[in-house]
Amino acid sequence: MENISNKVAFITGGGSGLGFAMAKSLSEAGIKVMIADIEERALEAAKNFFSEKKLEVETTLVDVTDRNSLEKAATKTEEIFGNIHILCNNAGVGINGNIRNLTYQDWDWVMGVNLNGVINGIQTFTKRIIRHGEGGHIVNTSSMAGLIGIKGLSIYNTAKYAVVGMSESLVQDLKTHNIGVSVLCPGFVNTRIYASERNRPSSLNQEVPKKDNPDKMKKKGDQQAISDEVLQNVIEPEIIGEMVLEAIKKNKFWILSHPEFKNLLTYRTEIISQSFDAWREFLTRSDKDG
Ligand SMILES: NC(=O)c1ccc[n+]([C@@H]2O[C@H](COP(=O)([O-])OP(=O)(O)OC[C@H]3O[C@@H](n4cnc5c(N)ncnc54)[C@H](O)[C@@H]3O)[C@@H](O)[C@H]2O)c1
Repeated sequence: MENISNKVAFITGGGSGLGFAMAKSLSEAGIKVMIADIEERALEAAKNFFSEKKLEVETTLVDVTDRNSLEKAATKTEEIFGNIHILCNNAGVGINGNIRNLTYQDWDWVMGVNLNGVINGIQTFTKRIIRHGEGGHIVNTSSMAGLIGIKGLSIYNTAKYAVVGMSESLVQDLKTHNIGVSVLCPGFVNTRIYASERNRPSSLNQEVPKKDNPDKMKKKGDQQAISDEVLQNVIEPEIIGEMVLEAIKKNKFWILSHPEFKNLLTYRTEIISQSFDAWREFLTRSDKDG
């Protein structure tokens, strides 16, 4: 989207962390922003922050796992600002733990927010953006964990890989409607993701065996393939906010904020490529045997 001035953005999980930083960057660039979040206190703080700065930002209480609440928030946003052009599907929660300790409640909560939340955002907003015909852009927040499997992150990996796959498909589907798509895959960013349980609904809160402590895991580097250097590079959310703005303006698909992961990803791709060769050899051999 070359011309972003006066466009309207809807940012889920915009009350804190990456979403809040996106709201800052986008509103400072002249975009009207609706911040949607489940955390009332964060919304109140955000409202005060942006009204002091006299930026066009509104807030609304939303649970991305609740389709009706998203639908109502979309209508409210259109009533306040008019047509919505930009959707940042960013709300997310983190959970660490070996698969042996994880429960159905853990799966339901994390998949509910990190994957169903994105699906609900796409379903609620894409048709609205197509309908007004003015074009738009969708930014889905995945993670480096959407590209690399990490020990102790099975649920998070599952959701974030799905978000990458969905985005790779959507970018093709939406091209003809003049809607760009980006997928954001950060490494570690200095946010409150490690306190995600603060937003866990009581219905999915069960007394469960203690999970691995995420901070401890992070320091310990509980993924042999990930070096300490990679784990220690924690960046500030404001950098991500600026990268998201750039991706929207220049229609860039991949938003990759942590270049130190490149080697690991290249290694993964090479292993897959080598496996093709090994299996091709097997197939040839089987043919001969048969
Ligand atoms: N911080 C990191 O290191 C990192 C790395 C890669 C990806 N991410 C992703 O970035 C996104 C933002 O996370 P963050 O790091 O800013 O964490 P954060 O906890 O600071 O912010 C997440 C926001 O999402 C909101 N939220 C949680 N559940 C919600 C729900 N059901 N409905 C609506 N809002 C809800 C929270 O209230 C919070 O404001 C997430 O998708 C996360 O998976 C974070």
